[in-house]
Amino acid sequence: MSRSAHPAGPRHADVLPEGHYAAPPVDLNALDPKVWAQTVDRNADGVVTVGGVDVNALAAQVGTPAYVLDEEDFRARARAWRTAFGHDADVFYAGKAFLSRAVVRWLDEEGLNLDVCSGGELATALSAGLAADRIAFHGNNKTPAEIRRAVEAGVGRIVLDSFQEIVRVAHLARELGRRQRVQIRVTVGVEAHTHEFIATAHEDQKFGIPLADGQAAEAVRRALQLDSLELIGIHSHIGSQIFDMSGFEVAAHRVVGLLKDVRDEHGVELPEIDLGGGLGIAYTSGDDPREPHEIAKALTEIVTRECESAKLRTPRISVEPGRAIVGPTTFTLYEVGTVKALEGLRTYVSVDGGMSDNIRTALYDAEYSVALASRTSDAEPMLVRVVGKHCESGDIVVKDAFLPADLAPGDLIAVPATGAYCRSMASNYNHALRPPVVAVRDGEARVIVRRESEEDLLRLDVG
Ligand code: LLP
Repeated sequence: MSRSAHPAGPRHADVLPEGHYAAPPVDLNALDPKVWAQTVDRNADGVVTVGGVDVNALAAQVGTPAYVLDEEDFRARARAWRTAFGHDADVFYAGKAFLSRAVVRWLDEEGLNLDVCSGGELATALSAGLAADRIAFHGNNKTPAEIRRAVEAGVGRIVLDSFQEIVRVAHLARELGRRQRVQIRVTVGVEAHTHEFIATAHEDQKFGIPLADGQAAEAVRRALQLDSLELIGIHSHIGSQIFDMSGFEVAAHRVVGLLKDVRDEHGVELPEIDLGGGLGIAYTSGDDPREPHEIAKALTEIVTRECESAKLRTPRISVEPGRAIVGPTTFTLYEVGTVKALEGLRTYVSVDGGMSDNIRTALYDAEYSVALASRTSDAEPMLVRVVGKHCESGDIVVKDAFLPADLAPGDLIAVPATGAYCRSMASNYNHALRPPVVAVRDGEARVIVRRESEEDLLRLDVG
């Protein structure tokens, strides 16, 4: 992004601090539909509304900070993925992005399946009544207890991530008298263009079984020999927040190559391939994500073409979008506590949350946008850093953004695109109470995950 000052001059325009920021938007009150959920707007008084409820009313009802989720938007995105992939493919929502019982019920109603990666996620899905055969169970080190629970529940598939796990799952399934459907997760050796911590298909990392050195073929060999396993396919997940489809193309090419080798060696055509999740969303106006129908078309074409040239029947495709469904549905609503102008340096806006409700800025250097939500303002743009209330200078929510210069304590500001990996990665650092998730729809706000209380914190403290 470019480094440029606004012609009108943000505060301290002569000495802009180090950072990555674009020029301030022409209209600071505008809400770019790219980064805000579908029903977000401003009412006649200039207050931001979502699902027909204004943020002042929301703050009065549930307090701040709060994650505010547009239910209509969630359902629309889930449906768009489902429709785009049609009946010959399956969409598994990746629960790690954000999971709650309400979310599970929406997915169920919209015809999506669910990917879980821990006993806790599995318990949430089962307690919401999702049929176990619509659940895929992931993870690079599932405990024997988790595997047992998943097999007993009858999950639709377990995605095997190591040689030890092949044996572990086979053994437990045999003990329980089951034949468990499994996929093998392979690392295809793709360098996905994303942050190092969220790229997962290059070889030097903990997930999957490498394809290149023949280990994946060996894993297939072993799984096929075990009666208590039904090997249904191969899985690949190349990373997260990816915009460029070429990584998926290479992954599909290599996975189909393995299917071909399996056919040649064992005379078996594995019926499914899973290409994982990872599709990027817009966090700022500069991001240009792909639509689900474009992604579905591209992936289906790649797999079909690769299978035709390998003379294989085209397998059933599945995908696992998490961020792309829930990310854009939610904004975090904060109250401004202090505005501190450091002459010649920058202006810090402190809010009543921070790295405990959004660790992504500190962890991945993620970029976010922000808007004054409780009112509009005609004041000039002021370059700010939005920070939290934690005891750490790295406690940054939005690194560089423009807010109106008359911003004051008590104003509500909203950070969009916080639906994925914010509540799910939230912590109790400094004994912060994790914020609620409020689903808004048709003029009604419903708390779907309540705010943590001091009693919740103290209940665990049994010393
Ligand atoms: N499938 C598998 C096997 C995965 O590991 C993941 C994400 C997904 C699907 C969903 O990926 P998505 O569509 O949401 O990108 N905490 C990081 C992201 C970690 C992603 C972990 N795996 C972040 O905040 O960016």
